[in-house]
Amino acid sequence: MSIHIPRGTQDILPGDVELWQYIEAKAKEVCRTYHYKEIRTPIFEHTELFQRGVGDTTDIVQKEMYTFTDRGDRSLTLRPEGTAGVARSFVEKKMFGNPNQPVKLYYQGPMFRYERPQSGRMRQFVQFGVEAIGSSDPTIDAEVLALAMSIYEELGLTDVKLVLNSLGDKESRDAHRQALIDHFKPNIHEFCEDCQSRLEKNPLRILDCKKDREHPLMQTAPSILDHLNDESRAYFEKVRNILDQLGIQYEVDPTLVRGLDYYYHTAFEIMADGEGFGAITTLCGGGRYTGLVEDLGGPSAPGIGFAFSIERLIMALKAKGLDKPSVETLDCFIVALGDEAKDKAAELLYQLRKVGVSCDKDYLDRKMKAQFKAADRYQARYTAILGENELKQGLINVKVMESGEQKAVALTEFIQYMQDQR
Ligand code: HAM
Repeated sequence: MSIHIPRGTQDILPGDVELWQYIEAKAKEVCRTYHYKEIRTPIFEHTELFQRGVGDTTDIVQKEMYTFTDRGDRSLTLRPEGTAGVARSFVEKKMFGNPNQPVKLYYQGPMFRYERPQSGRMRQFVQFGVEAIGSSDPTIDAEVLALAMSIYEELGLTDVKLVLNSLGDKESRDAHRQALIDHFKPNIHEFCEDCQSRLEKNPLRILDCKKDREHPLMQTAPSILDHLNDESRAYFEKVRNILDQLGIQYEVDPTLVRGLDYYYHTAFEIMADGEGFGAITTLCGGGRYTGLVEDLGGPSAPGIGFAFSIERLIMALKAKGLDKPSVETLDCFIVALGDEAKDKAAELLYQLRKVGVSCDKDYLDRKMKAQFKAADRYQARYTAILGENELKQGLINVKVMESGEQKAVALTEFIQYMQDQR
């Protein structure tokens, strides 16, 4: 019986991987200009980190984590997201003591959620994310939002929509929480079991429920924006003013609550605003968090960040026909005929590679014609032909594939010649 790939995962093969590399390179380049540095944290962490960090009542923690017990009887979890691990590392590595504050980080890597797979929803997906920890200056909120939007812009995705909300500070959230309880309580029996248990524990999560999305009470639920205290309102206004100043367009959506518990103040999502999408149009999500670092044993260090999956970004690029970056082709393919020439070709490839020329040859003892075909398939820019005659004369015939032009080059000069053609 053959073994298949697990549901909700994918192989990314050559031909597709180039698009991934292109996206990753662009995103990293944007991060460089915004002065964010890369961090790499483990793919699994202690389960408790996510229970505390992401929140016990969230769907992620309750239903979606890949949790296992290791041989030492510890409960570990494949990370469902990146923020908790980064915050843990911030505390553990005492980054709060770094004179460069806020600490501005980006990360990229696989995340795991046991969700029902569908287009744009995978069980293993790759997030690219950013966290700026250690400042509650509203200009850093605007910076992080601008960074996210710049990545989309760099990739040519201009019709994405930035949706913004404020979840307020603790006081505002508590007031909103009570209003939500008052609103839903009389009819809570009409909601799913999860929502019923969410009512007292975390009523904000009701707004996020996938099952009860269409219930009329969802449309009339009290808005957080009506419960913001003066300070929270002023903070939100400041963030918006800076975005206006930067010319970054956004829409305020008071129903945007995000699916993770750590958010306060600014919350945002970037949505695909074009055709070609199914039910899922959220490309990127993020926001400000206060208390996460403290909950993990650190000092008071508020942060803000976002993450998007490369899978969903690729869907958006495909929908716009922007998914074909120029593919890197081979510089040179050596067609070698005869045993001696083949050995010489191996030596030439080694030298070419050392000077940065990408090159290859035949390894299946194919005839000349088949070797030329291979060079074509690899889209080699140059084909170099080395037969017994050439070898005797100390020459190699270099053909420019685009023009068909051919030139005999002394073997002693071949490496330099190819290097000059790059
Ligand atoms: P999130 O909204 O759970 O936030 O996920 C962020 C992004 O990850 C989504 O917008 C989507 O692009 C992608 N994503 C999530 N689940 C899947 C899935 N099953 N398949 C494919 N893509 C998926 C967070 O993870 C927060 N840690 C973001 C953040 C960083 N907030 C502050 N800092």
